[in-house]
Amino acid sequence: MKNILILLTAFICISSCNTSQSKSEMDQFIDGLIGKMTIEEKVGQLNLIPYEGNTPEELKDIIAAGKVGAILKSNGAAQNRIIQEMAVKESRLGIPIMFQEDVIHGYRTIAPVPLAEAASWDLKLIQQSAAIAAQEAAAAGIHLTYAPMVDICRDPRWGRILEAGGEDVFLGSKIAAARVKGFQGTDLASTSTVMACVKHFAGYGAILAGRDYNIQDFSDRELYETYLPPFQAAVDAGVGSVMCAYTSVNAIPATANKYLLHDILRNEMGFDGLLMTDWSTIPNLVKIGVAKNDTLATLMAINAGVDMDMTSEKYLELLPVLVKKGLVSEAEINNAVRKVLVAKYKVGLFSDPYAYFDIENENATLLSADNIEKTKLMAQKSMVLLKNDHQTLPLNATIKTLAVIGPFAKSKKDLMGWWACKGIENEVTSVYEGILSELSQKSKIIYAEGCIIDSFRISGTNLIPAAVKAAQMADAVVVVLGEEYWMSGEGGGTASIRLPGAQEQLLEALSKTGKPIVTVLINGRPYILDKVVENSQAVLEAWMPGTTGGNAVAEILFGKFNPGGKLPVTFPIHEGQIPIYYNYRQTSHPFYTGPDRYTNSYRDIQHEPLFPFGFGLSYTTYEYGKINLSNSKLAENDSIMVSIEVKNTGQLAGTEIVQLYLRDNVCSVTRPVKELKGFELLDLLPGQSKTASFTIKADMLKFIGADLKPSIEKGDFTLYIGASSANVQELSFSLE
Ligand code: BGC
Repeated sequence: MKNILILLTAFICISSCNTSQSKSEMDQFIDGLIGKMTIEEKVGQLNLIPYEGNTPEELKDIIAAGKVGAILKSNGAAQNRIIQEMAVKESRLGIPIMFQEDVIHGYRTIAPVPLAEAASWDLKLIQQSAAIAAQEAAAAGIHLTYAPMVDICRDPRWGRILEAGGEDVFLGSKIAAARVKGFQGTDLASTSTVMACVKHFAGYGAILAGRDYNIQDFSDRELYETYLPPFQAAVDAGVGSVMCAYTSVNAIPATANKYLLHDILRNEMGFDGLLMTDWSTIPNLVKIGVAKNDTLATLMAINAGVDMDMTSEKYLELLPVLVKKGLVSEAEINNAVRKVLVAKYKVGLFSDPYAYFDIENENATLLSADNIEKTKLMAQKSMVLLKNDHQTLPLNATIKTLAVIGPFAKSKKDLMGWWACKGIENEVTSVYEGILSELSQKSKIIYAEGCIIDSFRISGTNLIPAAVKAAQMADAVVVVLGEEYWMSGEGGGTASIRLPGAQEQLLEALSKTGKPIVTVLINGRPYILDKVVENSQAVLEAWMPGTTGGNAVAEILFGKFNPGGKLPVTFPIHEGQIPIYYNYRQTSHPFYTGPDRYTNSYRDIQHEPLFPFGFGLSYTTYEYGKINLSNSKLAENDSIMVSIEVKNTGQLAGTEIVQLYLRDNVCSVTRPVKELKGFELLDLLPGQSKTASFTIKADMLKFIGADLKPSIEKGDFTLYIGASSANVQELSFSLE
């Protein structure tokens, strides 16, 4: 009787849907399904639960009752299949579960952390890296990833700075789009792509003092100029889902912020996909003190337009109560359910709920030779050469004796970082192992740990003398320093961004040997590197380079690969400079360190960072020609061309990242001293010259006006082209 009724209802609904010719097959199907659902089944679809257990049986009751829409942190295709069978076979309507996961930079083959990838400025490779992550995740039964994280961040104390694309809006937005395209591919229903969930909407990167989950506060101008554009880029690239931030905008938590979610995200930005909370951000509204109890918190979230509840189960528990009381309409619930079902439909779950659970494919895909090779290239492209005096690097692979020293020389887990997903420590190559496989058989390698990483304490200084001895016996010394995987990432805020423990002490002692010192850095955030630079002849920022990190580093150290990455974030020289970024607004008093105190500067330290945004060296050298501008006057509906010739004047092939910045000289609102507006990667053989060219259109000169709308003003502009934000040539032009 029950089944007959259900079918009858479905029939009535489908026939009524058929009367509307404009409805797609998907809409008709979803209308039909919603028509069959009870209110309990509807809120069940909005419920996203975590599951890290080993016996899916535990989930049987709630799944069979239709109380689970999606699961995060599950455990591979075989287990997901068991869970899926419960949903399809045991629940009344058989709606499949959507499996979701934090596939941030790789599933099993771990790529460099996102901040590192950003240092490549190589959008094709970044897209490919996301595609590899998606391919592996999908093969392991995942349908959606909580990535890309696109929070612009200017505070390296915040551990999550490693998850996004750095400090710059232009570069960050390009990377956001590349990652969405990489994860989602051209066919979301394909079993080698996953839906992307861009996060954290919006402004999480602005938290104060570097402490995770702390408050932040910024103007609407900052929201529009700095924090929204990467999200807009993700939306324009077709992102399927968005996650709310833990934090607030205008002191209203994102999860309850109708202005942010409805007016801005849905209406202004045009996002029509699935919107979810972050972990328990509904009950957090009570903790923050904007809701008196969970019921009111739930009401605020659904009113703000949040579709899916991650982990708190408040929607499941309280939405039916709110509907009964007439405080939430069933139409509101239907809207949210529709977003969940559309997401499921798009990834193909209604065509074949088991399509992503092919164990053979999973085995063949995870950590495949091809994925490893491509990930190694990504790691190499991500690395930034910060110093290389007297061409200390590359080292000769036939060197007689090489000392490899440092608490991170044999690290594996630290190379994968905090968001290592299903990466396995034993599958990572350490820097030491990488060096062993590159070094000639005849060479001698001496290892010394040098000091111990014991949280942030100074520890293991008694190991320094042995390390010094090892250095004295060697012809060159590679010192591998950095931070442990847990020191950055979520919850990884630190007050100090100097290398933890006795690492600086170790390096100082080693440098006194007079041997050539090459420091390799394993870290996920900018560190203060004054002592490192002082005590090393060469410094390679290797970041947290992932599974193939050790090989990638070694091939660079011995010259098989010429590094060309450039910093996507400023490296300060002192914590007191934070927040520090290159595109600060113009001020009345100049940046200047000298006797005149009425300047925008410090009395005790320099105002310049140690390494500016966009900085990075190479084993070869480049010579920039003069800027060519097709016209110094630009009409509003026209464009002008700007180009520059770059020559590789060294002995090795390399890639130079040519950067274009613009400055609006006079404007009705204060504008940055310069802003990145373009970049081009030039692959150059020794002696070869190529031209980087950019088209300048009036559109690029737009800014957020006093009314917070995009605006444009005629007048004079300066353009800068060069090798970093601080090493540029300039020319002027005007918009007429
Ligand atoms: C993080 C998110 C993450 C989620 C699920 C939260 O604590 O802020 O970025 O996707 O957990 O693991």
